Amino acid sequence: MRNIEAGRVRVISVFPLPPVARAEVARRFVIEDADPGSLGTPGRAEPDVLLLGPSLRVDDAFLTRLPGSIRAIANFSVGLDHIDLDAIRARGLALFNTPSVLSNAVADHAMLLILAATRRMPEATALLREGRWTGMRSNQILGVELVDRTLGIYGLGDIGGRVARRAAAFGMKIVYHNRKRAADEAGAEFVATAEELLAKADILLLATPSTDETRNFLDRRRLAMARDGVVVVNIARGDLIDDDALLEGLASGKVRAAGLDVFRDEPHFDPRYLTLPNVVATPHVGSATEEARRAMAAMLCDAIEAWQRGERPANQIV
Ligand code: DGY
Repeated sequence: MRNIEAGRVRVISVFPLPPVARAEVARRFVIEDADPGSLGTPGRAEPDVLLLGPSLRVDDAFLTRLPGSIRAIANFSVGLDHIDLDAIRARGLALFNTPSVLSNAVADHAMLLILAATRRMPEATALLREGRWTGMRSNQILGVELVDRTLGIYGLGDIGGRVARRAAAFGMKIVYHNRKRAADEAGAEFVATAEELLAKADILLLATPSTDETRNFLDRRRLAMARDGVVVVNIARGDLIDDDALLEGLASGKVRAAGLDVFRDEPHFDPRYLTLPNVVATPHVGSATEEARRAMAAMLCDAIEAWQRGERPANQIV
């Protein structure tokens, strides 16, 4: 149990927050912004909680440099693949994340990428931007429709379920593969193997966390099992995809198009993606809405307050 006077919790943030989120934290706690490299600097008022995001690798070496006053970490994302949970446990720190409050934003973004990839948005925009448009032509930028196509979701959790409901409204058939059937299947058909998923999906959506089991899921072997002309959309984590394999598929036509919001080793990404007309790419902005950011901040603040009272909030991971 922490001995922090109510209202005086000190949060040190090494993850720049948008105003809607920062204002929520500042309303409830004392917040100070810092550079991750300066955390160990002597003379700083002793922080209780460290707020960080997915751009930072949280491993033993990083935790060693933290001021000893920090008792909890508030992680401004639902994904935890950047955090060594064992190292957090070993130090007796609490850890909170932001499940479900960003799911609508990410599900909307998944639909945006699906639509942009199937309707060849980058090529259409380029016609205008590059001054190459000479008027409406019936043979320009032919895409494919979503109605009656099969969306295959690899990882039907909260986000995948919300994409399934949106895609159903577009007239799509939905299949999904998880290790186990999902509690809420959102009208989707469960397939027991990844192979079945790949054989059925016209559009393959990756919506699973990055783990030892899922990393490099979409490699050459699996892509060979996919339908010819599959559309690949990734709103989860970049390392689910073997970039060389996907780039080969995009170049050969095995993959009709890709919609990518996440990349291996962000903020770096394979620059070859941007040379291909059939790739629509965004810089990890799936959860970037005002509503989601405000709700993420509120959820972390609620968790800190509950933890301060000695409770264990539902979004406490460790
Ligand atoms: C998440 O919360 O994990 C989103 O991908 C943003 O990182």
